[in-house]
Amino acid sequence: MEITKSHGLRGELTIPGDKSISHRGIMLGAISRGTTEITNFLQGADCLSTISCFQKMGIPIENEGSLVRIQGKGLHGLKEPQSVLDAGNSGTTTRLLSGILCGQDFSCQLTGDDSIQKRPMERIMKPLRQMGADIRSLKDNGCAPLSITGKKLHAVDYHSPVASAQVKSCVLLAGLYADGPTSVTEPFLSRDHTERMLAYFGAKVSSLETTATVQPEPLLEGRQIEVPGDISSAAYFIAAALIVPGSEVLLKNVGVNPTRDGILRVCRQMGADITLLNERLVSQEPVADLLIRSSDLKGTVIEGSLIPTLIDEIPIIAILAAFADGVTTIRDAGELKVKESNRIDAMVTELSKMGADIQGTDDGMIIKGGAPLTGAAIDSRLDHRIAMSFATAGLAAAGTTTILQDSCIAISYPDFFRDLASLQI
Ligand code: S3P
Repeated sequence: MEITKSHGLRGELTIPGDKSISHRGIMLGAISRGTTEITNFLQGADCLSTISCFQKMGIPIENEGSLVRIQGKGLHGLKEPQSVLDAGNSGTTTRLLSGILCGQDFSCQLTGDDSIQKRPMERIMKPLRQMGADIRSLKDNGCAPLSITGKKLHAVDYHSPVASAQVKSCVLLAGLYADGPTSVTEPFLSRDHTERMLAYFGAKVSSLETTATVQPEPLLEGRQIEVPGDISSAAYFIAAALIVPGSEVLLKNVGVNPTRDGILRVCRQMGADITLLNERLVSQEPVADLLIRSSDLKGTVIEGSLIPTLIDEIPIIAILAAFADGVTTIRDAGELKVKESNRIDAMVTELSKMGADIQGTDDGMIIKGGAPLTGAAIDSRLDHRIAMSFATAGLAAAGTTTILQDSCIAISYPDFFRDLASLQI
């Protein structure tokens, strides 16, 4: 895709469903009793991978686009798959599903694409083994393909070294099959969609500071879920409206869960003009419409407990920083190196190509904003968030920005370019 300078973004856009919540809706629907209906389900490739994994385990799932219907079979109703489960590019599918698979009464294998086969799985294998699980990396390199033989699991009180919702959720889901209450404590609070949705389906879940606890063997019942718009997808339009002069955009139906809204807090710190309208609760998740007007931004510091609340938005925040006055420092974000690509390397290399002053560090980056950016050929590294971040940068840069291998955007936002075009004046 080729992007040129925009003359302004105007109008309104309804943001597609949240990726994290869409995955969880399928998973909990499958292990509940009765029918779960999901509206505004994200039709991104990652969430479709989750659907196909559960279909392979005998769960009837109808995907009619605007509505997904799951006939849940209960906690112990999954069937042994007849072939390898394929999580595609999805870390959430791989890690959360592993937690469920460890508590079943069958064996299976779980793998994914080249990127998934390089991402660290030891972080889930360690707590799962403490619970008595039989989970192994087939190549013995701490990555997928994984081989899992279901076992009766033991409860644990796991202290995770990383603030990761995928690790936390994996252990909590395994905890549904344990012999007592299972707790996970993390260094900082990560997104809490699993805890909220488990409670919504009828599980007993409690949260105290950064510890979440689940009681085993709940009676989960099918539910109606309306998925809020994904703030991680909204982030590109928030940024575009801020950096393209003369813009005013209304983003409707955006999830603003406090464990996900770090981007809004950072934008405000940088001087952004963002107003929350129509705040409400949808399927236990806070939602609002966001009104964004172009703003003069200034540099900021992003670190500590803020990091998990905006972990997927750091690439687009780095773009904002390049257009801001002064220095932005991002630290405590070493996790970026083990996302769909090494996102520190990707941002430093590709933003430098456009003329930005950016320096990578071991756990983040330092960006001296204000240098004029010029379009370049951007290697997306098949990472959807890198591709969309640079497409956004191209709207405010001189010349033409070309996004190479942009098809990866379908992982989380198949209609991204159509939605972007709809806002261009
Ligand atoms: C996710 C958690 C985050 C995030 C990912 C989705 C989830 O990963 O980066 O895109 O749905 O739980 P980590 O838990 O690895 O930080």
